[in-house]
Amino acid sequence: MKRITTRQELADCVTQWHKEGHTIGLVPTMGALHTGHLTLLKALEGKATRRIVSVFVNPIQFNNPDDFRLYPRGLDADAALLEQTGGADILYAPDVSQMYPDGFATRILVSGLDTMLCGADRPGHFDGVATIVTKLFMQTRANIAAFGEKDFQQLCIIRRMVQDLNLPVSILPVPTVRETDNLALSSRNKRLSPEQRTKAAHLPAALLACVAALKNGANPSATLATCRTTLEQAGFTLHYLEIRDGSTLQPTQPTAPTARLFVGASLGDIRLIDNMPLG
Ligand code: PAJ
Repeated sequence: MKRITTRQELADCVTQWHKEGHTIGLVPTMGALHTGHLTLLKALEGKATRRIVSVFVNPIQFNNPDDFRLYPRGLDADAALLEQTGGADILYAPDVSQMYPDGFATRILVSGLDTMLCGADRPGHFDGVATIVTKLFMQTRANIAAFGEKDFQQLCIIRRMVQDLNLPVSILPVPTVRETDNLALSSRNKRLSPEQRTKAAHLPAALLACVAALKNGANPSATLATCRTTLEQAGFTLHYLEIRDGSTLQPTQPTAPTARLFVGASLGDIRLIDNMPLG
């Protein structure tokens, strides 16, 4: 695996690959790699003959400076993990000046989908995501890119953007990878204290109970209220708990075939998100 930090070196490499007829797969990440990220890489097996993992903690998608400062980082450990598991041809880890040189002034806005759920209290977050992902698509000239369903709203926004801008890349969605207690893997989990880590398992447990009740025909608003109380009693600050359509993200009935349950909640200053299908 080659470690690349400059746009020029990456451009030389991907130009050569395209000349040789390779299909390029991309896994965009912010590092602190875990099995969720590695599953995205594995999902590209057989779909891409060359695979790039990008690691870039994107400052413009953080609306809270402390969240950016405290985001877990460890490029050497990420590189070692990728070497050990195999599958990546390039680890692309540019620094901020490569991505946002002086004078950088452009933002991609996927309007409508960006102000609800996680976007409601993180203004500008999804513009930052859409902007960096577009840059990564252009720089890597990827034919296919994998995204996790754990960040379902992000996945919907990227799909919308690819369709709207006719970007020549296919999007491969990958189901959420979970710990044995069902907590969705996340780089942010590394910041949980042992006590918070134990509490965090209440999040998927409450969602699973809520999904089961809704599937049994329970009253949606009463079921959501119970779930909210359970999570608050477990120590979470709830940002949202909503039933939404899996492609439009608009409110929908739990019985709709594409309905999903979405949650965003914090333990202390650590924000956790999750979602599960209802249909
Ligand atoms: P990051 O949080 O590092 O996630 C990178 C990719 O891994 C995303 O597509 C995310 O959905 C996926 N992922 C994370 N945890 C997962 C899990 N438990 N199961 C399955 N997939 C999982 O998402 C970002 O970075 C950034 O916003 C990025 C797209 C890289 C733009 O900066």
